Amino acid sequence: MKKLILILFASALLCEGIQAASFEPVWGRDGMLVTSVGPAAWAGQQVLENGGNAVDAAIATAFAAGVAHPFSSGLGGGMFAVVHDASDGSNTTLDARETAPAAATAEFYVKNPDSIRSGARSVAVPGLVQGAWALHQKYGSMPWKDLLEPAIKMASEGYRVEIWHHNVVKRVAERLKENPETQRTQTVDGMAPPLGWNHVQEDLAETLRWIQKKGEKALAVGPIAEKIAKATDNAVTELDLARYKVKWREPIRGSYRDYEIISMPPPSSGGVLLVQMLNILSRHDLGSMNHGSSEYVHLLASTMKMAFEDRAENFGDSDFYDVPVERLISMKYADQQAARFNPNGQVKARADHPQVPDDDGTTHISVIDKNGNAIAITQTINTLFGSKITVPGTGIVLNNEMDDFSIGPELANAWGATGSMANAVAPGKRPLSSMTPTIVLRDGSPVMVIGSPMGTLIITTVLQTLINVIDFEFDAQRAVNAARFHHQWKPDRLTIEPEFPIEVRERLQALGYELREFSIIGAAELAVFDPEACMFWGGADGRRDSKAAPVNISKVARPSETVQCIGTRRNTAEAVPD
Ligand code: DON
Repeated sequence: MKKLILILFASALLCEGIQAASFEPVWGRDGMLVTSVGPAAWAGQQVLENGGNAVDAAIATAFAAGVAHPFSSGLGGGMFAVVHDASDGSNTTLDARETAPAAATAEFYVKNPDSIRSGARSVAVPGLVQGAWALHQKYGSMPWKDLLEPAIKMASEGYRVEIWHHNVVKRVAERLKENPETQRTQTVDGMAPPLGWNHVQEDLAETLRWIQKKGEKALAVGPIAEKIAKATDNAVTELDLARYKVKWREPIRGSYRDYEIISMPPPSSGGVLLVQMLNILSRHDLGSMNHGSSEYVHLLASTMKMAFEDRAENFGDSDFYDVPVERLISMKYADQQAARFNPNGQVKARADHPQVPDDDGTTHISVIDKNGNAIAITQTINTLFGSKITVPGTGIVLNNEMDDFSIGPELANAWGATGSMANAVAPGKRPLSSMTPTIVLRDGSPVMVIGSPMGTLIITTVLQTLINVIDFEFDAQRAVNAARFHHQWKPDRLTIEPEFPIEVRERLQALGYELREFSIIGAAELAVFDPEACMFWGGADGRRDSKAAPVNISKVARPSETVQCIGTRRNTAEAVPD
């Protein structure tokens, strides 16, 4: 990794300031924030420049992201966070996942399968505000109210609608007619806000001010809770909202080459699958293969298939179902799985289902600060505009996270994922997720922070991007840019991005793959710290409206000077030229 980062260093010197995805990684001396919601990046960047830590910055960006991309995440949704605390070297995860209401039953959705994807019954109890509050209580260094300010500013003064926002709303504008409040607040006379439009969300600004004042319980009790219950016809009751609790969970840990992987445990499948796949792949010298060749794609796709087979069979909320995590991430299991790989043919699938992976209801934020604190937050309302319900007078768009439950072995969710009883609906249970916020450590300190939106494709996006850095020594931007592919066992087909050449496609077809081209797979948001150079790098994914926001507070080091580098004090003269 080090070698290539330094090779690209010279050209990257021209890239200071917030930038859209570029051909070179963005660099910073004092920290890095990368997010799939570019227009919200300034919020966290400003926090870091004002002396806030990585968690402060991520919270400010998370709230701002819900304003800038209200179709992708926000107060009506949930989140996972993975945190590294440099002060004691600890790693932990926060589960602020949405939760099934007390009255939810599996039978209801089996009889009414359409109601799980949109409308009042698709809404699970939101956890985002409590999640942000819990993170702040444990790690925050700036006042809570300051972290809400950028979001309030964007909501009350408005922000300029750019192409991503316009196109996304255009795609769903017709469907928003079902909900007059969403149409009123998110469209202009029923149509997507035009390019350059100043998008003001006054109700949302008021709600954010309320959260600024009331904190943790702002949405859980009182007038807003009442309005949420009313907007969902009591599918989510005031009692559900009042009872919601976030959970601190032990991370999933794995090791790959010289790196330690810290990721999200159930109710996400992301961390376990990531580690399972890396365990299997650690038996191969990936770096000596041709990146993107049919042999490479076949090896990874076979690995993905096996991991997603486990996802369909074994995964659900671990508070309700005994997910065999230890077995799945053990090297013994990796041995058994690795032996199933057939270089000349398929690991066979058992069934097929339709797949509709065309959505944008999730955002990701990766941050590392100058002291070595790191946080990866993935937050979601599930699919575009979630349930499509906006709570009248609040600007809160409610999630449709109930769709991440499994309602029958043959019924796929919006992401084509099927599941077992392990992920059946039950009161107070959290639906299975694919969100994979991940921190990668080397010698105990964070060197990469990563995550992505896009349902089941999140996990394979994170996998490939990490391999691009670790095995192929790609710099942060190239690792993010490289064409991706995805396999999830069912449906038994290999999804590839358009860049794959015809010869590779033909060889993959000869190996038995049914190919399906998809214009984009995931959006990897990668922040890298290079301890040798004492530099931060950002790879923002141009597949979405992403940005890498560097932090450069300290002045450029001179040959005689030293600067504080994460975990060590070292001379940075060669690494940080003027
Ligand atoms: O938790 C999950 O896995 C899904 N609700 C994530 C949905 C998603 O990533 C939509 N984004 N593009």
